[in-house]
Amino acid sequence: MTALTPFALQHAPALIESVFPAQKVSFEAQRERKAGAGQTLTALGSYWKGRKPLILVRAIVLGSLLPPTGNAEQDLAVYEQLLAFDRDALARRALANNAFKPKDMLKTLTLSEPWQYFTYTLKAPDLIAGQVDSWAAPFDADQHGLTVRWQKNLADDEKLALYTQMLQTLPDYPSRAALCKRPEELDPAELYAPIWATVNAHYQHLGINAHSHQQLVEQLGILRFGHRPKVGDTFCGGGSIPFEAARLGCDVYASDLNPIACMLTWGALNIIGASPEQRAEIAQAQRAVAAAVDAEITALGIEHDSDGNRAKAYLYCLETRCPETGWLVPLSPSWVISKTRNVVAQLIPNPARQCFDIEIASGVSAAALQQAEQGTVQNGNLSYSLNGKTYQTPIKTLRGDYKDANGVTGNRLRLWGKHDFKPQPEDIFQERLYCIQWITADSLDKKQKETFFAAVTEADWARERLVEQIVAEHIEAWQQQGLVPDMAIEPGYNTDQPMRERGWTYWHHLFNARQLHLHYLIKEKSNEIPIGLIGLGAMLDYSSKLCQWTTSPKSSGKVGGRTGGASDNPAHVFYNQALNVFFNYANRTSLDLLEKWVISPTEPTGNQSVTNTEVFTITANDIKTTADLFITDPPYADAVHYHEITEFFIAWLRKNPPAPFDEWIWDSRRALAIKGSGDGFRRGMVAAYTAMAQHSPDNGLHCVMFTHQDTSVWSDMVGIFWAAGLQVIGAWYIATETTSELKKGSYVQGTVILMLGKRAAGEKRTFKNRILPLVRKEVAAQIQQMLHLNADVKNSLGEPVFNDADLQMAGYAAALKVLTAYTHIGDEDATSFALRPKQKGQTTVVDDIVQQAAEAANSLLIPDGLQPDTWHAAQGIQRFYLRMMDMESSGAAKLDNYQNFAKAFHVQDYSKIMASMAANQARLKSIEEFSPRDLSDSSEIGPTYLGKLIIALQQLLQEQDPQGVLDYLNADVADFMAARPVLVDMVNFIAANSPSAKVQAAAELLSARLRNQRLA
Ligand SMILES: C[S@@+](CC[C@H](N)C(=O)[O-])C[C@H]1O[C@@H](n2cnc3c(N)ncnc32)[C@H](O)[C@@H]1O
Repeated sequence: MTALTPFALQHAPALIESVFPAQKVSFEAQRERKAGAGQTLTALGSYWKGRKPLILVRAIVLGSLLPPTGNAEQDLAVYEQLLAFDRDALARRALANNAFKPKDMLKTLTLSEPWQYFTYTLKAPDLIAGQVDSWAAPFDADQHGLTVRWQKNLADDEKLALYTQMLQTLPDYPSRAALCKRPEELDPAELYAPIWATVNAHYQHLGINAHSHQQLVEQLGILRFGHRPKVGDTFCGGGSIPFEAARLGCDVYASDLNPIACMLTWGALNIIGASPEQRAEIAQAQRAVAAAVDAEITALGIEHDSDGNRAKAYLYCLETRCPETGWLVPLSPSWVISKTRNVVAQLIPNPARQCFDIEIASGVSAAALQQAEQGTVQNGNLSYSLNGKTYQTPIKTLRGDYKDANGVTGNRLRLWGKHDFKPQPEDIFQERLYCIQWITADSLDKKQKETFFAAVTEADWARERLVEQIVAEHIEAWQQQGLVPDMAIEPGYNTDQPMRERGWTYWHHLFNARQLHLHYLIKEKSNEIPIGLIGLGAMLDYSSKLCQWTTSPKSSGKVGGRTGGASDNPAHVFYNQALNVFFNYANRTSLDLLEKWVISPTEPTGNQSVTNTEVFTITANDIKTTADLFITDPPYADAVHYHEITEFFIAWLRKNPPAPFDEWIWDSRRALAIKGSGDGFRRGMVAAYTAMAQHSPDNGLHCVMFTHQDTSVWSDMVGIFWAAGLQVIGAWYIATETTSELKKGSYVQGTVILMLGKRAAGEKRTFKNRILPLVRKEVAAQIQQMLHLNADVKNSLGEPVFNDADLQMAGYAAALKVLTAYTHIGDEDATSFALRPKQKGQTTVVDDIVQQAAEAANSLLIPDGLQPDTWHAAQGIQRFYLRMMDMESSGAAKLDNYQNFAKAFHVQDYSKIMASMAANQARLKSIEEFSPRDLSDSSEIGPTYLGKLIIALQQLLQEQDPQGVLDYLNADVADFMAARPVLVDMVNFIAANSPSAKVQAAAELLSARLRNQRLA
């Protein structure tokens, strides 16, 4: 057997440069996202948005370490086995999910001896067992009155054989994988057990002998770098990259400027990645703290009533004095408390005190519920009725908004002071408890708790006052001890809002007395243990005045989003990335919150990380050690102001934290955060990536992920890496999320995976006109090679590996590979190029090369059945329509494909020719669906050949005289006879690809007429 030779692969390319199962990774990445709370790392806090999918990280790490062997098809097959994407793994994943019922298998599969696998019970009286025994599948067990189930003790292998057959009846990977558990949900020892013999045989020549991913990764590291590979991530955020790399068996170096990011990364590695024994210890420590807090709350009696009922949630609203009547009016956009139980708050005028008493009515009529939907805050106004008269005052007026001489807006809200924790009596906005959700004493110990909503009683007010008194007496001391925040809110994009709309100037103002008291108790009792801090972070998201009360009806079935489903609940703060304040908010009680504080990740299945891991709170350019593979997801044009919104957490966690957090800088260091996309951003990025390049070996690899927007992003990013001394070696496109998550409507977010290596030392110069032919050649070679692999894989597995987006992306990468191999293009050097301020509208050498690459790639992506001459004659929107028509005919309907190709073909507004822009059901307008306006001469498609053909086809569909139609076309198209071959080819293409038989017939007729028309 060959021995493992350190550095044997030192100069070998990485498999990911040429092969990557991008479509499958996209599908699995989106499924991981959709798992919501089931995602491995969200247990530590769902407030961190934009975590990269673990499956994507896994695919990148493996693809970076594996070498190509000269047999791309086999390499891909093994790569997919290592990711559990292959046919056999899908069967194991589907079986783990119990995806198929025995009766469905019997209905679908051809089995000569089905009772080898299944057994039956006769339901129908006229059936005879003996007869049934001789049946062969397929048959419909239900129809025959049989109940069927698996044979007892049937080996998994036999079940798997049937599962494989069932999966093969489905058309493609997404439809199969959708029935499966995600790979990380299975125990890796079992899921991957069958693959190692094949993997070892495939890499036998290298001396690979592995029985787990960790062993394989270590051996590949030795072959490439002489040791177990070390993965670095200097923008580690929520920790996906370090966590997955460690889980796969890499050593890990992680850093982020932001201590909250570092805390989450540390938690991922050391809590989620802890051994079962460590996890048991952690859980025990947490439970002890939770019990102590609970005992103290219970002893104080602040969450119980005299009947032993215990509060689940407290509902608060603001209150303000109406300038017209002088009455104190409660403020809320809706007075509906529960849509499932028809509970509403009713405002009862109290003339003696010039205010409203609030009663709670349960089980009210639908009409009453509807009426309560009309709150006292409507369209930015205080709006209420008294003695039959309606009063309306803009909230802006109540606040006293004004613009000063410099045009700066301000208002007359009092700015709260350092020890304030509730409004003062003269404040414009008061806060008032108006309803309590109680859990009945009887059901407190039951799993299914019974709750009811009630108005606030005198005893409740007394309990409120007790909590306020405790806080008032201690807040100063708590702040000094660092147990409650004393940090001022710094103005900023998100942080201005609480100041402007409530007068809150310190972070603790975002919490009421109950919340301050509970958080103090938890922190005081858990400040010694790291999990105490992580748990408090997760809990704070659910426990602040920024948690709106939400209710959704039983039937809504809405999952996720603000309401969290069909229920009555306080929302959480970071349901989006803003610090929104509300007129009505709700307070979860300790009973509910302590559950959130106790971190309970799903039981570990191979999560344990046993390699060396380090986490630092430092800037990306201040790297401490070298790494062999840097995988980063930098904050490009980031919509998320991590540096601001995490101050919400930092304020609570920063003082006297336990080890190892005590060595960190507990400040958001806003000034050092890389942000935006301007000159400062580029300078920060060049510094960061130069440092990374300097901290990696000569054969080190770099993978950078960024959002795919347009070619100007490419130009920026490539300029940065070019200046940092890195050379592009590959690129892939992954559809990571549909942006309902980002709340931007129907829009699919794509991520570019850019692979880079270190450029060889020394100067290398060339000129633009020399480089362009090389670019075209490299792009063509790359695409041809991929098309070749596509054809092979399609032949053997029925599905291609790459789609057009992959091909196009690889085309860009090939072009940039050529460019970034040089240090100078003409008199332009890489660094000055990247750092030079960008002028609007200016095109650069990188833009030109990206453009060349796009054109070279696009000219090779001729739709099946279209002549190259037609393709070259058709530009822009015509190419777009024809290309997408071709894609639609093979069933593609993903909006991001349309988005990407619209950009690639420079379409001005592709939405005009789209019938649907739904994320997964996008489609072009069919020939019949174009309106006359869509086809007018001022539209984008109207004046083109294709536009004219669509008009002609519509006329034929309206049964106009074919000769007249042809004459009209003849007159409408300039230089008609010269254009005729292109017109014929396009109309033939439409005939072959239109889903409508009528359009096909019209297109065939038009084609025949066009071909037969004689020269005048
Ligand atoms: C897009 S996020 C990374 C998300 C991460 N990959 C994940 O899966 O959660 C970018 C990160 O860069 C960090 N960051 C911004 N400027 C930085 C700098 N100058 N040095 C280090 N980290 C920085 C932010 O704090 C943020 O956590």
